[in-house]
Amino acid sequence: MIKPDAVASGHTGRILAMIHESGFKVAGLKQRRISLEEAQAFYAVHKARPFYTSLVRFMSEGPTVVLVLEREDAIARWRVLMGATNPANAEEGTIRKRFAESIERNAVHGSDAPETAAQEIPFFFSQAELL
Ligand code: CMP
Repeated sequence: MIKPDAVASGHTGRILAMIHESGFKVAGLKQRRISLEEAQAFYAVHKARPFYTSLVRFMSEGPTVVLVLEREDAIARWRVLMGATNPANAEEGTIRKRFAESIERNAVHGSDAPETAAQEIPFFFSQAELL
């Protein structure tokens, strides 16, 4: 997911270029505003965290771009391309190093395991929207 900070700042095209250059196949793609209720459900796992209220407000403040990416070892490779959650710790050449504003407004999200991806993909995509 390309988060509202990065979409609003006009970084969508540059992030998509990094995705393509890193060898991912785009199986699904759309720009979509997430409601507050959807953000609350999407990040329910973080409900007890002190940043939850601010996070769900941020995630629903403007459009996001949601993607389904495919390649061998896609989850691990996407996490490398994203960089560390906190951009202060992100490696050079990662999306968060280039575009994240803060630990919360950190430009992109990725599923952290196949089980998470299996929940997050149908949250945004119907079967007909996927290659
Ligand atoms: P993401 O990879 O989408 O997973 C959970 C999100 O919560 C994370 O990216 C950040 O946007 C946000 N987040 C994680 N840790 C913090 C924190 N310490 N303070 C504020 N936001 C955070």
